[in-house]
Amino acid sequence: MTLTRLRLLNFRNYESLDLSFDEGVNAVLGRNGSGKTNLAEAVHYLSLARSFRSSDDEPLIRHGCETAVLEAEISEGELRRTLEIEIGKGAKRVKLNGKPLRRLSELSRLVNVLLFCPSDVALFTGSPSERRNFLDVSLSKQSSDYFRLISRYGATLKERNALLKQAQPDLALLDVLTDQLIDLEEPLVSYRSLFLSNLESTLPGVLSRLRGEATGAELIYRPFVKPGDGFKERAKKAYEASKESDLLHRSTSVGVHREDFFFRFNGKDVATYGSQGENRMAALALKLSPYYLIEKEERKPICVLDDVTSELDAKKIENLLALLKDFHQTFLTTTDITIENATYIDVASNKATRRNEHGR
Ligand SMILES: Nc1ncnc2c1ncn2[C@@H]1O[C@H](COP(=O)(O)OP(=O)(O)O)[C@@H](O)[C@H]1O
Ligand SMILES: [Mg+2]
Repeated sequence: MTLTRLRLLNFRNYESLDLSFDEGVNAVLGRNGSGKTNLAEAVHYLSLARSFRSSDDEPLIRHGCETAVLEAEISEGELRRTLEIEIGKGAKRVKLNGKPLRRLSELSRLVNVLLFCPSDVALFTGSPSERRNFLDVSLSKQSSDYFRLISRYGATLKERNALLKQAQPDLALLDVLTDQLIDLEEPLVSYRSLFLSNLESTLPGVLSRLRGEATGAELIYRPFVKPGDGFKERAKKAYEASKESDLLHRSTSVGVHREDFFFRFNGKDVATYGSQGENRMAALALKLSPYYLIEKEERKPICVLDDVTSELDAKKIENLLALLKDFHQTFLTTTDITIENATYIDVASNKATRRNEHGR
């Protein structure tokens, strides 16, 4: 996919912006605080209608304004799409090719964006919810079935937790909700397990290229119960075993919402034994690897890398830029580096301007 044009109105520090982009690397250059991440955020926002650095939309609206607007043109092979998102205080409207898009969940398949941002350094050392979020976002992009299952799982879990909070929970209803969770969990666990094992086929290659030396990379999935034959029985047992404690603590303690996965970097758990640099490389490799799982050239995602170069030495930057040659289109924010054949976007004084024609 290619983002060919982006217009912003009153988005963060941009009163009005209109830029065209090319395939290859679009280098967003500017001083700290100039608005580079804001531009990266806008590109990523197109894929989820959600910011990667703010849980609500209001900070995205320029100070003193009522609404922010993003308009984008995206091409996917011969297909051209226009997307218009209006963010108001408390509501947003999304139009695809001029018509309202009813389900925001469709966005991530229409505009697939892979993101690496500075907080990803803590992907493995931080809370498991970040890693589950990676699984849920990645899998929802690939499969509307996964999205439907995980959404229903979330709703059913909420119901079960609400029931557990009642003074006298209806135990028959508790069993019904538990069975519903298990029915959803069986395919969810299979999806997650398959995705992580597929990723393992590309991950060591990506990590080795980023580091410039052969590096082992394994992903260890910790499902709440083992997938495969007999899943339902095993899951039932797990829920049964924790029933009393769930009733006592008024919350559901087993299920896919408690799962996790680990990254073994040269055979050792990166969160426990890895340096910060190794954690950064592991996270970057993980975030980029899904690119290689998508077969159709025109479906390949747009890549957004925010501030990734500031913490890398010159050799690692060179390795990353070599890897990015595989990628269809990348947005890379940076304060200072020179990139061969890139399109440069200069950011200063609340404006972003394109410096050159592609590669010149
Ligand atoms: N809603 C907003 N309205 C106006 N300015 C904003 C808004 N949100 C952030 N900013 C401004 O954007 C700038 C930060 O931009 P950012 O993209 O994070 O910079 P960087 O180039 O370092 O990545 C700050 O000056 C901040 O005041
Ligand atoms: Mg920034």
